[in-house]
Amino acid sequence: MKTPSTIAPAKGKLGVLLVGLGAVATTTIAGVFAIRKNLAQPIGSLTQMGTIRLGKRTENRSPRINEFVDLASLDDIVFGGWDIFEEDTYAAARTAGVLEPGLLDKVRKEMEAIRPMSAVFDQRYVKRLNGPNVKKGKNKMDLAEQVISDIRAFKAKHKCTRLVMVWTGSTEVFMKQGPVHRTVAAFEKGLAKSDVAIPSSMVYAYAALKEGIPFANAAPNLTADVPAMLDLAAKTGAPLAGNDMKTGQTLIKTIIAPGLKARMIGVKGWYSTNILGNRDGEVLDDPESFKTKEESKKSALDYIFQPHLYPELYKDLSHVVRINYYPPRGDNKEGWDNIDIVGWLGYPMQLKINFLCRDSILAAPIVLDSALFLDLAKRAGMHGIQEWLSFYFKAPMHAPEVYPEHDLFIQLMKLKNTLRHLMGEELITHLGREYYD
Ligand SMILES: NC(=O)c1ccc[n+]([C@@H]2O[C@H](COP(=O)([O-])OP(=O)(O)OC[C@H]3O[C@@H](n4cnc5c(N)ncnc54)[C@H](O)[C@@H]3O)[C@@H](O)[C@H]2O)c1
Repeated sequence: MKTPSTIAPAKGKLGVLLVGLGAVATTTIAGVFAIRKNLAQPIGSLTQMGTIRLGKRTENRSPRINEFVDLASLDDIVFGGWDIFEEDTYAAARTAGVLEPGLLDKVRKEMEAIRPMSAVFDQRYVKRLNGPNVKKGKNKMDLAEQVISDIRAFKAKHKCTRLVMVWTGSTEVFMKQGPVHRTVAAFEKGLAKSDVAIPSSMVYAYAALKEGIPFANAAPNLTADVPAMLDLAAKTGAPLAGNDMKTGQTLIKTIIAPGLKARMIGVKGWYSTNILGNRDGEVLDDPESFKTKEESKKSALDYIFQPHLYPELYKDLSHVVRINYYPPRGDNKEGWDNIDIVGWLGYPMQLKINFLCRDSILAAPIVLDSALFLDLAKRAGMHGIQEWLSFYFKAPMHAPEVYPEHDLFIQLMKLKNTLRHLMGEELITHLGREYYD
């Protein structure tokens, strides 16, 4: 046993601030309320249901993760957030149509009490939306200061000891890193000049990081993944995670692809298409927002298959991703994957996957887990990119000198070994020779 890291206790209330109170956010909030009341189980949440093996297999030590590390209890979470629409989270959850009205009515009072704070929003970055609950300010710095005031007022009102912010807002248009994102000084000048290269999501991320608050990006936008934000996070001691939650088709991709590669099965083509009818689908119907999503979705296979190491198997892989907005399906997305694979002596085979999923049902436990683990990271004094949380993201943030890890099973090992390391337990290597020597 090594010395455990010093971790401040999870005492008092944890404020979870969600930017964008749409399908994902309201499913997370209603879910936590329902679980607190024992109306449902936290299925899909590693922090609530997962266990962690400690020591040798013969020791039979596998505590629950939330008993092994000190995480905020669900009873101690207070939710808040911003949206461009004025409806409370009960009404927003009814609009999103993910959860049954019967369940929502049982948590109605708590949901109605959460009303969105007015948003920082500019239609330039999300073309298909517009709403009335929007802040006015003389420039983007002024808007960031208003968000900081909101954060402080929320913390005081709800007597929170700690806060976490997660962007659960719409996917913004595709943007590339530019000069204004290089340093904190350039970024702050850019805020004062309302530089167009600073989308709304960055204004929130800046406000959170300036306050030393952990920040996660559940969407694929270029938000906190720029040097200026990383420098700011280092200065204020804020942990960061992102980008774009790994749910639905990409989750399945990162489960199947490592298996094919492990057995040296070649892949010639991977065609993925989705139909989706919720507001997210509507936003992604705009080519500029879709481009952001497409880039995030496409990167996983390249990194998992490592075509530079296995050119015979993966060099000419044709990877196509499509999302079509189809209103009748609402949040119940349907995805099809056709995978053209190659076996022994080059013989072709095909694999077809038809996933009838519920997007926000897969996303909610991830929002919860990321918030709880980021709060743990903050209390453990870990700041900057939390690569061990790659497990939750489609396009994981990573240090510039390493490639991102996309393989779900390596990601899980990294996550659990980080927890073991934090608690001074031996890391698990799976060598296991001692049982046979
Ligand atoms: N559902 C999933 O499984 C999943 C998976 C990965 C990523 N995502 C991403 O998560 C995000 C949320 O998805 P959703 O299904 O909840 O979408 P949604 O459209 O239901 O909710 C997004 C909310 O964000 C609000 N919003 C947009 N810009 C805002 C701003 N600047 N400030 C405050 N609020 C703002 C919108 O009004 C809307 O209510 C999307 O970017 C989506 O791509 C979702």
